[in-house]
Amino acid sequence: MNLQNQYDIKDLSLAEAGKRRIEWASKEMPVMRLIRERFAAEKPFKNIRISACLHITSETATLALALKAGGANVALCASNPLSTQDDAAAALVEYGIPTNAIKGEDETTYYKHINSALDSNPQLTVDDGADLVTTLHTKRKDLLKNVLGGTEETTTGVIRLRSLEKAGGLKYPIIAVNDAQTKYLFDNRYGTGQSTTDGITRATNILWAGKKVVICGYGWCGRGIALRAKGLGAQIIVTEVAPTRALEAVMDGYQVMPLIEAVKIGDIFITVSGDKHVIDEAHFQAMKDGAMIANSGHFNVEINIPALESLAKSKRRIRPFVDEYTLNDERHLYLLGEGRLINLASAEGHPASVMDMSFANQSLCLEYIVKNRSQLETKVYPVPEEIDKEIARLKLQSMGINIDSLTPEQKEYLTSWEEGT
Ligand SMILES: NC(=O)c1ccc[n+]([C@@H]2O[C@H](COP(=O)([O-])OP(=O)(O)OC[C@H]3O[C@@H](n4cnc5c(N)ncnc54)[C@H](O)[C@@H]3O)[C@@H](O)[C@H]2O)c1
Repeated sequence: MNLQNQYDIKDLSLAEAGKRRIEWASKEMPVMRLIRERFAAEKPFKNIRISACLHITSETATLALALKAGGANVALCASNPLSTQDDAAAALVEYGIPTNAIKGEDETTYYKHINSALDSNPQLTVDDGADLVTTLHTKRKDLLKNVLGGTEETTTGVIRLRSLEKAGGLKYPIIAVNDAQTKYLFDNRYGTGQSTTDGITRATNILWAGKKVVICGYGWCGRGIALRAKGLGAQIIVTEVAPTRALEAVMDGYQVMPLIEAVKIGDIFITVSGDKHVIDEAHFQAMKDGAMIANSGHFNVEINIPALESLAKSKRRIRPFVDEYTLNDERHLYLLGEGRLINLASAEGHPASVMDMSFANQSLCLEYIVKNRSQLETKVYPVPEEIDKEIARLKLQSMGINIDSLTPEQKEYLTSWEEGT
């Protein structure tokens, strides 16, 4: 394929390094390997155009290559300005996949890249955070008529799409991949837990043991980060707005308090709520000298960065991914990764083994849309239960783990009401 003018990446000469990292990641993705082999034989996406807006990483490359093996024409763009692995992007171009993504791109380039991916006139969309779908529904409406369906990878994207559906604006069916058990229980919890602590460690080289770590939001990601930071010896403080989640954090053994109290004692702050301005001006005003602030939620609005900028009398980059803000009272606050998802900004995102399940969901849901397109309505669908269960079965199989199955007597018992005490 002639890819001239169809890609915009940092440096094509990084392709060999990218190919080696993709090969390394794919070793930890046995479920995707099986799916790719079947797609190559069955060609479920023959001549279908797919525009995918995802973090451009070595794991995403394995998804793109599986879809391509299945006959699709895939165009890729970044779902975050700071999450692209430039070597993976270069390798993807060499593998014949038009890719538009450069780590550190500004907002104008970010949307230019989304529009480039949409220029392929997609029949399927894959999104992570719903920026591509939003662009399609607002600025590129002319392309909507050809779209059969799409998938959404993350919590924030699903929230946006459900709001769009509720407002009557959604124009094609979308499957909420995030809501599969084989996605959020593993990717959001163990993936974000490990990669967020990894990202903060790589950016700062701090010792976690003995630190007071404040986690804003105790959802699936927050639980995972708390678990891993506790394992590294940190004392965990959780802030929440949902009473049940706050109660769960208490019974998991963590301190729970309003953020305005936590700021007086916390050493490291991590937002992971999907909400806006969770850490705001009043919080910066009360933080200790030397406090570090990071975000692992989808968008960089969780920390009110403009408020921090206006409070600071100076700012300097003291290390890659660490900006030091000096306030008027001489306190220093450290913003990590420009407030963008720290696990992708300063580390490599989720380990391949969890992305194996997330992207198996993506692959099988896209195939499901193609096969069932005539029956699907214009709404946000959950992942079909049979897909979710099959991915768990395949993952266990790949790990060499067998489980028990119900006897006929147990099946009968579990579906009856007559038998009691
Ligand atoms: N970094 C990554 O790689 C990665 C991976 C998966 C998801 N995400 C993103 O992380 C965010 C969280 O995802 P999740 O699956 O854990 O969501 P979730 O809905 O399970 O949890 C979010 C929690 O934040 C709480 N919350 C909301 N506003 C708050 C506030 N002002 N203060 C304190 N708590 C507040 C909610 O009550 C909820 O319990 C989303 O933006 C999601 O898209 C990031």
